[in-house]
Amino acid sequence: MITILAIESSCDETAASVCREGRILSNIIASQKVHESYGGVVPELASRAHMQHIVPVVDQAMKMAGVEMDSLDGIAFTQAPGLIGALLVGAQFARSMALALNKPLIPVHHMQAHVIANLIDEPSPSFPFLCLTVSGGHTQIVLCESPTIMNVIGETIDDAAGEAFDKSAKILGLPYPGGPLIDSYSKQGNPKAFIFPEPQIPGLNFSFSGLKTSILYFLQEHQRQNPNFIEERLPDICASIQRRIVTILLNKLKKAAVETGIKEICLAGGVSSNSELRSALKEAGNKYGWHTYYPSPQYCTDNAAMIAMTAYYKFLDGDFADLSAVPSARATW
Ligand code: KG4
Ligand code: ZN
Repeated sequence: MITILAIESSCDETAASVCREGRILSNIIASQKVHESYGGVVPELASRAHMQHIVPVVDQAMKMAGVEMDSLDGIAFTQAPGLIGALLVGAQFARSMALALNKPLIPVHHMQAHVIANLIDEPSPSFPFLCLTVSGGHTQIVLCESPTIMNVIGETIDDAAGEAFDKSAKILGLPYPGGPLIDSYSKQGNPKAFIFPEPQIPGLNFSFSGLKTSILYFLQEHQRQNPNFIEERLPDICASIQRRIVTILLNKLKKAAVETGIKEICLAGGVSSNSELRSALKEAGNKYGWHTYYPSPQYCTDNAAMIAMTAYYKFLDGDFADLSAVPSARATW
């Protein structure tokens, strides 16, 4: 029975997970509160917090799984992409464990792992499937042929969908990360109250930077007439922003489904826990005859279970690295 310990430290969550034969036995996450007052992740503070958290997080993941060190078959870590100082903490820890235990080291690509999060629980998509991966740093449409063969067929040319949520929230005076707050305010708002423009980007690529600028001008204009505009209309503004982000995403996903003829469609990444995006996917699924999937919320935002699951498939392929494997802030796949 293949048992893998995985470590994730690419951004501001220190996470560890143990999986056995593709089943998650533990999934521990220590989130870093230290960034809240800065309106974004501060890389140096992230590295320091990873160093403080990594030993207790790994310890807890092993205890919860009920697994002893000597029954591990491999040690996995997030190799790329991410904040380099943050990645180094997880990579160094994983390399040290692999060396001490004399077990194979399995480097994992974080974006590939977000896609694989869809294979953790049942029902899971059959291959080939399309996955819209929407996180704080990425927005991609991925054509997934097998657990280890995938290609990006569309991506953002500027901001990620998560950034569109977070930057809009920041303009509205909401704390970081603003995505979940926009989601919750939107529940009491009218999504048709205000109309924001949809960018005309060719092919399957996305753009979100124009949306941020149009929100900024829109608010400046309204606040000139009514200084309390944001306070009075916050749910309507949030619902209208969210509706636009969701329609931009869904329109490209529909285009990808038509172009590829694939009807197995998944979401992944932090923004895939957005309630409107989830219901819009279900609606599109009913309309176009798609089978739709999204991971449970704990596997949408950054976690080590998705790293462990990806590492399991890489283990089956014999895809290991030697102990000199180094992390990379930007790596294509
Ligand atoms: O995947 P993730 O945890 O980290 C990255 O790899 O970037 O994604 C974090 C992003 C943040 O931008 C956060 O605001 C967004 O996911 N997010 C949401 C929701 N939950 C998290 N955005 C919109 N609605 C949500 N419910
Ligand atoms: Zn992520």
